[in-house]
Amino acid sequence: MTATPPKRKTLLLNIVFVVVVLGLLLFLWNAPPETTPRLPQDENHQHFFTMDRKEAESFCESCHQPDGISPLSQDHPPTYRCLFCHKRPE
Ligand code: HEC
Ligand code: HEC
Repeated sequence: MTATPPKRKTLLLNIVFVVVVLGLLLFLWNAPPETTPRLPQDENHQHFFTMDRKEAESFCESCHQPDGISPLSQDHPPTYRCLFCHKRPE
C-alpha cells in the first residue's frame, strides 16, 4: 500500500505543465505589441519612412535626447537600434 500511486502524480505534473505553458503563451501574446509605440506618422517622422533604417536612426537623437524637444522617459529600454522596436507602420 503506497500513499500516492505514481500515475496520479504524473497526471498532476502534466496539468501543472500545461497551465504554466498556457500562462506563458498568454503573457507573450499580450505583452509586446501593446507596450512599444510605433513610429508616429507626423511631420516630425514622415521623412524617416522612406529612409534606410540605419540612416534614419542617426537622426532620432537630435530630438529624443535628454535635453531635446521630446526626451525619453527615465525607464526607457536601451536605445541601441530605435527602429527594431519602434516599427514603422507599413
Ligand atoms: C524633429 C524632431 C524629431 C525627430 C528627428 C524624431 N522625433 Fe520622434 N518624436 C518627436 C516629437 C515632438 C514626439 C512627440 C509628439 C509625437 O508623438 O509626434 C515624438 C514621439 C516619438 C515616439 C512616441 C510615439 C508615442 O506614441 O508615444 C516615438 C516612438 C518616436 N518619436 C520615435 C522616433 C524615432 C525612432 C526617431 C528616429 C527615426 C525619431 N522619433 C525622430 C520628434 C522627433
Ligand atoms: C529595446 C526596444 C527599444 C529600443 C531599441 C528603443 N525603444 Fe523607445 N520605447 C520602447 C518601449 C517598450 C517604450 C514604451 C516605454 C513605456 O511606455 O514606458 C518606448 C518608448 C519610447 C518613446 C515614448 C516616450 C517614452 O520614453 O516612453 C519614445 C519617444 C521612444 N521610445 C524613442 C526611441 C528612440 C529615439 C530610440 C533610439 C534612440 C528608441 N526609442 C529605442 C522600446 C525601445
